[in-house]
Amino acid sequence: MSGANCKEVDPRKEEEEEEEEEEMVTGMGSYKGKVRMVRGDPSDEMMLLWGLQQPTFSKPNAFVSQSSLNLTLDACGRRLSISQSPSSLGAPGVTGSVMWDSGIVLGKFLENAVETGLLGLQGKKVVELGAGCGLVGCIAALLGAQVILTDMPDRLRLLKKNIEDNMYGDVRGCATANELTWGDRPEPELVEPLPDFGTVYLPDSSLVKAPLSNDLAEVYKEVVIGSDVIYSEEAVTDLLDTLVELSGINTTIILAGELRNGNSLRCYIRLLLKSVTPLVRVDVIFEAVGCLADAILEYFLEAAMEEFMIGRVDQAGWHPDYRSPRVAMYVLVMK
Ligand SMILES: C[S@@+](CC[C@H](N)C(=O)[O-])C[C@H]1O[C@@H](n2cnc3c(N)ncnc32)[C@H](O)[C@@H]1O
Repeated sequence: MSGANCKEVDPRKEEEEEEEEEEMVTGMGSYKGKVRMVRGDPSDEMMLLWGLQQPTFSKPNAFVSQSSLNLTLDACGRRLSISQSPSSLGAPGVTGSVMWDSGIVLGKFLENAVETGLLGLQGKKVVELGAGCGLVGCIAALLGAQVILTDMPDRLRLLKKNIEDNMYGDVRGCATANELTWGDRPEPELVEPLPDFGTVYLPDSSLVKAPLSNDLAEVYKEVVIGSDVIYSEEAVTDLLDTLVELSGINTTIILAGELRNGNSLRCYIRLLLKSVTPLVRVDVIFEAVGCLADAILEYFLEAAMEEFMIGRVDQAGWHPDYRSPRVAMYVLVMK
């Protein structure tokens, strides 16, 4: 058919748009916002992420000053004051003695999601992994959660100090620190659900222990959070073991990770092979070089997909003032 008002429909474009829509889901676990499902080959996810965000064009650590002894951030109606220990950063294995951008992004994401009704943390049990200086867990406690901030045993001193310094006055929830090294068996209090559980049925007739509620997102009573915890290939298996140990059918995991430069050629080669343009353009190469970064994130996603459904929260769903092309945010729930 032809005519001035009839646009020709490109079936390939339509198909792509349909596929795109299929990947978007509203609501995953306790998060009621939109997520883009991560399915299939995780290298496609990495390419999409790098293509969309182009992280190498923006400055790393835009929201933090890692050389300062103190970092302040306004959240939940108060000014949080987080002590840092920049001099410890050089010590082997020490990364949590200062704040990282994805921690600020995750903390402000939680605040924004609760304020806009996309997430409820009131009365929920939250376990933070690799809490470092403790900012994110403190924000979760101010938002009403019962938070256990965890890290390796020698990291707890600074964590406890920051909890004490910031959890004063009217705090809707509570925060405590506990040691947890990934891959080790977590203490029972980290795994056990809160005691006041009733029983509800999900639409697929599976039985879930949770307080009676009409709100399906409320069925998910436990939340595990972590910022910048996916950065070491050796630790990925242990981290995943811990995520599995801590997860039940009513657990939602929210992770924010940083996109960094890495050293794998895999992604580069894949991107070139999959490039739809016959000529290899400079921007494709640039993107590909960036992709080298995320061999570890890709490895994590690939392994995590065996146990979890994974959705990425696009930047549009984050706090408007705390969006960074260098950060990616994922929600995971058990399959
Ligand atoms: C890059 S820091 C991020 C700290 C904090 N979440 C933030 O965003 O500022 C990584 C954190 O993970 C912790 N971590 C690394 N390996 C760990 C392990 N095997 N078990 C437990 N915690 C670990 C580190 O001690 C550190 O606090």
